[in-house]
Parts: sequence; structure tokens; C-alpha cells
Amino acid sequence: MAEPAPRMSKIEGKVAIITGGASGIGEATARLFADNAARAVVIADIQDEKGQRVAESIGLNRCSYIHCDVSDEEQVIHLVNQTVSKHGRLDVMFSNAGIVSGSDQTLLDLDLAELDRVFAVNARGMAACVKQAARVMLERRVRGSIVCTASVAASRGGCWRTDYIMSKHAVVGLVRSASRQLGEHGIRVNCVSPSAVATSLLCRSEEELEEVRRIYEQNTSLKGIELTSCGKPTKMAESALCRKKLEGKVAIITGGASGIGEVTARLFADHGARIVVIADIQDELGQNVAQSIGSHRCTYVHCDVSDEEQVKNMVESTVRIYGQLDIMFSNAGILSPTDQKVLDLDMSQFDRLFSVNVRGAAACVKHAGRAMVGRRVEGTIVCTGSVVASKGGPRRTDYVMSKHAVLGLVRSASKQLGEHGIRVNCVSPYAVATPLMCNSLQKEAGEVEKIHQPFTSLKGTVLKARNVADAVLFLVSDDSAFVTGHDLAVDGGFNY
Ligand SMILES: NC(=O)c1ccc[n+]([C@@H]2O[C@H](COP(=O)([O-])OP(=O)(O)OC[C@H]3O[C@@H](n4cnc5c(N)ncnc54)[C@H](O)[C@@H]3O)[C@@H](O)[C@H]2O)c1
Repeated sequence: MAEPAPRMSKIEGKVAIITGGASGIGEATARLFADNAARAVVIADIQDEKGQRVAESIGLNRCSYIHCDVSDEEQVIHLVNQTVSKHGRLDVMFSNAGIVSGSDQTLLDLDLAELDRVFAVNARGMAACVKQAARVMLERRVRGSIVCTASVAASRGGCWRTDYIMSKHAVVGLVRSASRQLGEHGIRVNCVSPSAVATSLLCRSEEELEEVRRIYEQNTSLKGIELTSCGKPTKMAESALCRKKLEGKVAIITGGASGIGEVTARLFADHGARIVVIADIQDELGQNVAQSIGSHRCTYVHCDVSDEEQVKNMVESTVRIYGQLDIMFSNAGILSPTDQKVLDLDMSQFDRLFSVNVRGAAACVKHAGRAMVGRRVEGTIVCTGSVVASKGGPRRTDYVMSKHAVLGLVRSASKQLGEHGIRVNCVSPYAVATPLMCNSLQKEAGEVEKIHQPFTSLKGTVLKARNVADAVLFLVSDDSAFVTGHDLAVDGGFNY
């Protein structure tokens, strides 16, 4: 299957429903969808006057409002059917409506009637939206996308708001189940989990808003940026409007001579990066890639990442020549030549692999971090992990361990560099038929893809290096301005 073609706008021509779209995150998303050329955005809410006003301000040619209480499935059915009969299809369901209780809801004082009310909207409502959206997508054979709003609270407990936290855990369960069940029809289901956004859900007054800001500023690693949904210009909203996301940026890509790194170098250049420095040990290949991208936008430097001195020199020369470093994509990686099952671990292969995958990544993050802090650049760093960074495997023990270590590096670095406004994230692909994979399995790309397809939930599409590059672009651009310490899986719902 060919690499996905670049699109002008991410959701051009799409028909989208946004529940809870009358205010906060939903409203900001409705505006962003419309700005990104969605054909129709349907706002569904119970705040009729507000919702109608938002739709009018976006423009009634692109946006409409429908009253819908998501806790009543009949109303959700009506919403979805109306949308399809008016616009012919449904491509996107952003199931976002949610509420919090009026009281603290600590466990010992849990008001179960309040819990029922929260669950009726946050869990039952989400389930109804996912169910009904999937029904019409299936009927019309639309390979659509469903996103639910959960919360950072969906992966940890809390001292209060027990019912809310439980309901958001339920949303994650819904998303995990639905993505498995709908993947065979090409429908993607994901979750977005914001930390505290100062919306009307959380704040009823200016004082409360200030309090929320203060608490969360104290509790996030990333400093100097506030998570916002609307009302003020945000880095996120501004960036989505310009097609070139890396205008003027200086980027380094290790392992950029081939595979995922090469495709990412091309994408960065297409997105206006001032210069992309490819750092690799395959000199001829790297030079050819740089040349084909254009010597004014891309250059090749020999750098073995396992040698800290070479990494240091490569970063320092980049800063000396181009003035600063904005982006480090630490991506170079290798596999051992043998299976490396635990009982047969060859320790010299183990050492070699660790020197590149772990030591090399640590050196890249360290020296990129130093260059950014030294010049006060609020840069971004992305490391290539792997789906195996969060799972064990039947073989490749050293590789699995090394990718777990990369995740540990990313999590630590994101905490330590957040105070300088530097974001550090991980991209974790499932199997991509790059030279690394094909050589290791001694198979052609098509065969490699065929072998791995049965293990993903998402059917009818094959993971390409371009899909990983798109995720890296998201992580290094302002589209992910508040995302740090995150491990972004690009795995088609890998369910090994
Ligand atoms: N292909 C997959 O299925 C897959 C899945 C998950 C993660 N990954 C990871 O993706 C990253 C990129 O791999 P790929 O699949 O594009 O493979 P690839 O072999 O096409 O690219 C890897 C690049 O890293 C370079 N490299 C190796 N050792 C180096 C060193 N010491 N110093 C500098 N450069 C070095 C290689 O020369 C090569 O150009 C790796 O970290 C890999 O572990 C790959």
C-alpha cells in the first residue's frame, strides 16, 4: 500500500458531531474543525442559547446546533440520524459532553444520586454516542474516527471527585473496547485526556479560575504555558491554522538516513523547517537523502550516537552554524542479529544494542537539552520508542529492555526539562517495514506487513513510516503545546 498522501487540511470535507460543543473544549474544537475546512460541524448540547450563538458565530453554512441530552439515547439517535440525513454521512464523532458533581464527592461522603447523574452523562452518554456514531459509520461504510474526552484523572485516583474519576476510567474502558471491536471496519476510536483546563466545567468565577491556574501550574512539569481551550489565543489554535508547522525551526534527526528517520526528515522539510540535520552512520545514504531534500534545507553529518563526543560535536556544530536547536528527534536504533531470548542472551550483542538504543538516546537528549537550555529555546525532543516499550515479548529481550529504558529517559527528562519550557515525548510504533525490520526478518516489505497485520485491531490499512512521521510532527509542533512525558503509540490498536 502506498504512503498516505499529504492532505491540505486535516479534516477537509468531513462531517463532524461535537457533543458538549456549546462551551469550553467542545466549542474550541468546533471552531478549529471549521477553520480546518470541515464540511459540517454539528454542535450538540443542552445549553441551547449558547450553542446556537457559537454555531452562528462560526457561520451557519458550516456549523449548526442541535439540542441533545446525551444521557437519553433516543436524543443521541435523533442527533446522529439528523446529521446523516442532512449531510449524507458522519466522519467524526467527538464525544465530549461531561459534568462534575456539585459537591466534593469524597468516598466517605459519596452521594450516590450525584454519582448516578455524573455517570448518566459521562459514561452512559459517551457509550450512547460511540454506539450510535459507529452504527451510522458502519451503515455507510465510513472509515470514521471517534474521540472521547476522558481526563488525566482516568489513569490515577484522587482525593475528591470520586464519581468523576470513576466515570472517566469507564470512558477509557469504553474506548479500549470500542477500538478493538470497530477496528476491523476501519473505524478508529481514541481518547483525549486533558489535565485541568479553565473552562466553565471547573470554574464558576474569576477567583476559581485563578485558583485552578495556581494549583495546576504547581503540579505540571511544563512551565510557562497554560492549558487553554478557547477565549484566548492559544499556541494550539494558532498553529493549526498555518499549514507549515515548523517554519524556521532547526531540527536534528538521528538515524535519518533511512526508514522512519528519512521519511520524517522529508516531512519536516515540507513543513518549513529552516534546516534538518540528518545524523547517521550510513554516509552515502544520508548524503543522498539530504541532497534529494535540497542542500538549502537539509544537511548530513556523520554521527555515531553511541559515542557521546560525536553527539556533543554534532549538536554544538548545529547550534554554531544555524544559531540554535529547536527540535531533536532521537531515532537511531538497531536490533541484535540473533533472537536474544533470555536464556541465550549474548551479552556482547546486548552491549552493542544498548550503546546505540539507550546510551545514544541519553546522549542525544542530554546534549539537545543543554543546547536548548543554554540558548533559552523552548524546544521539543522526541525519542523513538516502540510498542514493546510497554510490553514484554517472546524474543528480542535486549531490544525490549532498551525501549523500556528509552521510555524511562523520556519520562525523567520531561520532568527535569519542563521548567525550561522544553517538552520531551516518545513515539512508539508497531512494526513498520523499514530496512531495520526487513533485514532482521529477511523478508520483503510486503511480506513483513502481511505478517504483522493480524495483530492490530484496525483493519484495511497498513502502518507506514509516514504514519509515524505524522505523529512525530504532531509531537514537535505547537499542535501538542501542552503534551510532555507522553508515549504516543502508533500501533493500529496492537493487541498482542
Ligand atoms: N521498523 C519498526 O518496525 C520499528 C518499530 C518500533 C520502533 N522502531 C524504532 O524506530 C527507529 C528507526 O528505525 P527504522 O525502522 O526506521 O530502521 P532503519 O534501519 O531504517 O533506520 C535506523 C537508522 O539508524 C541508523 N543508526 C544505527 N546505528 C546508529 C548509530 N550508532 N548512530 C547513528 N545512527 C545509527 C541507521 O544507520 C539507520 O539509518 C529505531 O529506533 C527503531 O528501534 C522501529
